[in-house]
Amino acid sequence: MPGRTRIRLVEPADAAPLAAHRARDVELFRRWEPAQPPALLTAEGQAERIDRLLAGHRAGTVWPGVVLADGEVIGQVTVGGVLPQPHLRRGSLGYWITGTAQNRGHAGRAVGLALRVMAEELGLHRAEASTNLENLPSQRVLRRNGFSPYGVAHSAILLDGRWQDSLLWERILGD
Ligand SMILES: CC(C)(COP(=O)(O)OP(=O)(O)OC[C@H]1O[C@@H](n2cnc3c(N)ncnc32)[C@H](O)[C@@H]1OP(=O)(O)O)[C@@H](O)C(=O)NCCC(=O)NCCS
Repeated sequence: MPGRTRIRLVEPADAAPLAAHRARDVELFRRWEPAQPPALLTAEGQAERIDRLLAGHRAGTVWPGVVLADGEVIGQVTVGGVLPQPHLRRGSLGYWITGTAQNRGHAGRAVGLALRVMAEELGLHRAEASTNLENLPSQRVLRRNGFSPYGVAHSAILLDGRWQDSLLWERILGD
């Protein structure tokens, strides 16, 4: 049911569910995401991170969101690296959905909602993202939202103990 997915800015009260998901998903995410510092597997560590993210939001460099399904926090969607200068106006999307909620279309819909935030709230012109070359679910999410691959960054991210290439994605949002 498409209406079930929502996104909103992260809040201090999200620390506990985010930490619980992160702790449960360590093995599942090992292939796809850099290892989380141990502190982020605790509610206290997540609370400090949320404070930093909200400071970044006030400074205009990041839009840190959570993804909700039926009102429950199930993941995050973040617009990072925001460059608001009139000649750039771009930002980079990152996202994850906890294992128990995957493959129900939540990431696809959350990315669609985040693109609206980027265009309408942040006034951005260009959205970027990157995926592992083998992360087919993430690539599906981006393609479904109108992204195209435009290149490969070599040896770009240390994942699962190995420097790996990243596939680079872009979507033009409008004038
Ligand atoms: C990538 C991720 C965000 C997708 O979340 P999700 O809510 O399951 O995504 P959706 O349900 O919206 O879409 C998943 C798509 O992948 C497809 N898919 C699932 N498993 C697949 C597989 N093994 N091979 C190919 N496609 C696959 C689904 O069919 C669906 O495609 P469709 O839209 O054509 O039907 C989630 O798997 C995740 O958090 N992974 C770990 C962290 C991560 O990879 N983050 C992104 C880093 S770039």
